[in-house]
Amino acid sequence: MQIMCVPIQHTHSYPLYIHHANLAPKNPILLLKTQRFLTSSVSASHMGFPTNGAEADKSLKFLLYGKTGWIRGLLGDLCRAQGIQFSYGSGRLENRASLEADIAEAKPTHVLNAAGVTGRPNVDWCESHKVETIRANVVGTLTLADVCRDNGLLLVNFATGCIFEYDKDHPLGSGIGFKEHDTPNFIGSFYSKTKAMVEDLLRNYDNVCTLRVRMPISSDLSNPRNFITKITRYEKVVDIPNSMTILDELLPISIEMAKRNLTGIWNFTNPGVVSHNEVLQMYKDYIDPNFSWKNFTLEEQAKVIVAPRSNNELDTTKLKKEFPELLSIKESLVKYVFQPNQKVNA
Ligand SMILES: NC(=O)c1ccc[n+]([C@@H]2O[C@H](COP(=O)([O-])OP(=O)(O)OC[C@H]3O[C@@H](n4cnc5c(N)ncnc54)[C@H](OP(=O)(O)O)[C@@H]3O)[C@@H](O)[C@H]2O)c1
Repeated sequence: MQIMCVPIQHTHSYPLYIHHANLAPKNPILLLKTQRFLTSSVSASHMGFPTNGAEADKSLKFLLYGKTGWIRGLLGDLCRAQGIQFSYGSGRLENRASLEADIAEAKPTHVLNAAGVTGRPNVDWCESHKVETIRANVVGTLTLADVCRDNGLLLVNFATGCIFEYDKDHPLGSGIGFKEHDTPNFIGSFYSKTKAMVEDLLRNYDNVCTLRVRMPISSDLSNPRNFITKITRYEKVVDIPNSMTILDELLPISIEMAKRNLTGIWNFTNPGVVSHNEVLQMYKDYIDPNFSWKNFTLEEQAKVIVAPRSNNELDTTKLKKEFPELLSIKESLVKYVFQPNQKVNA
């Protein structure tokens, strides 16, 4: 997709651009909304109104899906902190009428979707609940994208990068990551399979911004969804370098991406990889000097899980180009997670 960038002002923490995502012939309503946003932002700055921070964000209204979910909760907190108006969608993704009712009531400028079946206690749940997984992750996500398109709305969709695994063209340790246009090669779990199918179909929706999240980590080390919390509680862990997403750094970027009206697929991880043992060593260095752990092999891991897990590196060139300040995974772990939680004196 061809994207034209029009710089309109530079008082934001990130330079603010409106991206005309070449939607005009296919989706005139979306173009109209984009133009309206462009016009209001330009005229606001011309009239001497502050265009950064909470004032500028009054032109925005986000509708967030994910009900009680981890990422949706963090997005709500961020909107509150940034003074962005938002509401939570109460509809079920697969129920078109309920989504239409949410949109009619909220009148959002953007929809952010952090709803989906992830499985409890983990993705193995999806292996034995295939229809429920399809209903939410396939029928639901596609219905939301379709309703948003009908309403001229951009949808930022929190998807997954767990649709790839290291292969001969992207070997472990090579630094060669999977790119946004690469075809998923990991369908070992039903969860990943549904996510890969939906990502492919969503490519056809020019109002959708797909964010490939991986092994998300936040500074809240008490949250059982947090990758660090998970691996510190496991009896044994594998040790494989992976691309990961530091939510404290990347969720604000997702909000900025909505403001810039970015669309298409984005590898949504910090640049580089970090292994389980490297993360656990940092945990030991910063949080608990008495912490110890045991490793096991992939073959041994396979005996205690139902479906295989994806291990991969994603290429973040595209995201880094748009957000040059993006930290590498190891820098981001230190800055956003371990330093704020530091208990061990340096
Ligand atoms: N956490 C991870 O490790 C991870 C990694 C990569 C990508 N992601 C993706 O990021 C997204 C958010 O993840 P998360 O960790 O925040 O998930 P989460 O904590 O499991 O929350 C998911 C939320 O989605 C809601 N939901 C499920 N099915 C729904 C449906 N059909 N209609 C409406 N709401 C529905 C759930 O509400 P109910 O309980 O009411 O169903 C729940 O509140 C997911 O799509 C996930 O695949 C997560």
